[in-house]
Amino acid sequence: MSEPRQILVTSALPYANGSIHLGHMLEYIQTDMWVRYQKLRGNQCLYVCADDAHGSAIMLRAEKEGITPEQLIANVQAEHSADFADFLVDFDNFHSTHSEENRELSSLIYTRLRDAGHIATRSVTQYFDPEKGMFLADRFIKGTCPKCATEDQYGDNCEKCGATYAPTELKNPKSAISGATPVLRDSQHFFFKLPDFQAMLQQWTRSGTLQDAVANKLAEWLDSGLQEWDISRDAPYFGFEIPGEPGKYFYVWLDAPIGYMASFKNLCARRPELDFDAFWREGSETELYHFIGKDIVNFHALFWPAMLEGAGFRKPTAVNVHGYLTVNGAKMSKSRGTFIKARTYLDHLQPEYLRYYYAAKLGRGVDDLDLNLEDFVQKVNSDLVGKVVNIASRCAGFIHKGNDGVMVAGDAAPELSEAFLAAAPSIAEAYEARDFGRAMREIMALADRANAWIADKAPWSLAKQEGKQDEVQAICAQGINLFRQLVIFLKPVLPILAADAEAFLNVAPLTWNDHQSRLENHKLNPFKALMSRIEPAKVEAMVAASKEDLLAAEAKTAPAGNGELTKDPLSAEIEFDTFAAVDLRVALIVKAEAVPGADKLLQLTLDIGDERRNVFSGIKSAYPDPSQLEGRLTMMVANLKPRKMRFGVSEGMVMAAGPGGEEIYLLSPDSGAKPGQRIK
Ligand code: MSP
Ligand code: ZN
Repeated sequence: MSEPRQILVTSALPYANGSIHLGHMLEYIQTDMWVRYQKLRGNQCLYVCADDAHGSAIMLRAEKEGITPEQLIANVQAEHSADFADFLVDFDNFHSTHSEENRELSSLIYTRLRDAGHIATRSVTQYFDPEKGMFLADRFIKGTCPKCATEDQYGDNCEKCGATYAPTELKNPKSAISGATPVLRDSQHFFFKLPDFQAMLQQWTRSGTLQDAVANKLAEWLDSGLQEWDISRDAPYFGFEIPGEPGKYFYVWLDAPIGYMASFKNLCARRPELDFDAFWREGSETELYHFIGKDIVNFHALFWPAMLEGAGFRKPTAVNVHGYLTVNGAKMSKSRGTFIKARTYLDHLQPEYLRYYYAAKLGRGVDDLDLNLEDFVQKVNSDLVGKVVNIASRCAGFIHKGNDGVMVAGDAAPELSEAFLAAAPSIAEAYEARDFGRAMREIMALADRANAWIADKAPWSLAKQEGKQDEVQAICAQGINLFRQLVIFLKPVLPILAADAEAFLNVAPLTWNDHQSRLENHKLNPFKALMSRIEPAKVEAMVAASKEDLLAAEAKTAPAGNGELTKDPLSAEIEFDTFAAVDLRVALIVKAEAVPGADKLLQLTLDIGDERRNVFSGIKSAYPDPSQLEGRLTMMVANLKPRKMRFGVSEGMVMAAGPGGEEIYLLSPDSGAKPGQRIK
């Protein structure tokens, strides 16, 4: 037997500012199945990941929630870890890019690149938010499209006419963070000299490290010449300060891939038999694979290998790229309930249903993959329950009833046994090549043959006849042996089914090579249902819950005065309980004043009987003279989570109708209502 391979595997590091959804899950499940396959083959395979914790988006979200970035990333890490564990994604380590290991490795790589002359510095002119005191990334600038004059477009492209432009071309630019008009300002930036690695990349991208479609795409970039890459950001930024450059931070994408190394280093500290350098030194004979989505190819197949080369580390053996998940043929949609969070799925359905469905549809290419919810129910029920589990449930009873649970010796269907053995190398090859779809088709073809054979032998009829007991036992023992082989082949995809089957079969954890042996004169444990059918109602409930998630999220981020009135509510229905949870009160406007520096906001002091509330509301355009509001009654949402804003904390929301601008109409109760009364 050949030496076990030493393999290090990663999935892209999920951003620490949001929940994991079924699109992300495609990648983690794909990677996990490949890793489990390698482990089943007896290879040393280590799977590491981490949360991607840096960047201005995370800094701003923490600020909005009124917590520190460290608190935010700790909360999200706990949530992500639970989601992955419950989807049976079995990382050897799940770390964070905001870690000591990553700080050290990022410094090391940067200083090596700098000392080798691969870092340049020059001044860059960029929009700066004078109120917030920070430079603005393109997505934090809004303005009027220079081509078609549509308002409210983001920094670098227009959603209406599709034009792309520099943020400086936007008419009437505004900071999306503070609403202030940005000013142009210069600052020194640090650049990674990617063109130094042009020749290496030209060769590396064509050396079997990438799928053809990916290599072809990259060739377009490579042929048109590489640009230097801006790797610095100015304070305030949540990340690592660049060594020797106070106030300058590494751009999040600089230290993110280094997070792969950092997570592995952290694992090595816990597992002394692992040698960090053996995996990362230049010329290492170990294998290194990154699994990523098609949107982040340039970071992994251009910048990253160049950084590694420049800093004297090994480069990846391959970067495996997958396509995007669509649901019911379209981009995941919040209002259709097809933007499904990992947790929402888990609240309704078993993880292995989705693992199997993804496996059945995943090829080795970069095509998008559709989760069609009807097909999902149909396929899982027909393949897993109807074909695989069915074999065991048809045979087990006869062995328990007729032979005290003991499988007899002998091969009742040599040609079938032969076919199962012969199929193994091809299934293995499909797994190795990440062609899970082909592996599943071949496994299900075997399951079909086993079922057809059992149906033909019909042990249930024989059992009713005199003197056929030996034949019944021989057929059923054969059936269980075939089932056992199918379980081995499916084990990377269905680890729980495999564990439950091992318990029923009364065997130690199965490995790949066990498919070559049979159980004979072997006592089984009682058979318990191994997997139940998906009830379509559960899928419907999951979709309904995804719509509710969205409403909850909207309520949380409802503009307690960021200048806009709440967008049209969704047409999705809500449960009565959701409605009843809203504490609506009559409120007396005691004071109403403009907020200095905010052109759309009023600051309201509201009396709700036993309490006074401070509320910021984006209604100034309709009430240019705020004092006219003083003394009148309105209605407020009193149990909205307080929101920290730039001007103070907003403790609720007042209710108004109308499209906005001058047409905003604050709601009022009939006369006689008293402040603090609940609205029912
Ligand atoms: N933080 C970066 C990755 C840094 S790696 C050094 C990032 N994070 S992400 O959370 O946006 O995405 C994580 C992975 O999930 C990426 O590989 C991305 O392609 C993948 N997916 C995100 N949405 C997806 C779908 N809808 N479908 C399939 N994969 C998707 O990018
Ligand atoms: Zn436009």
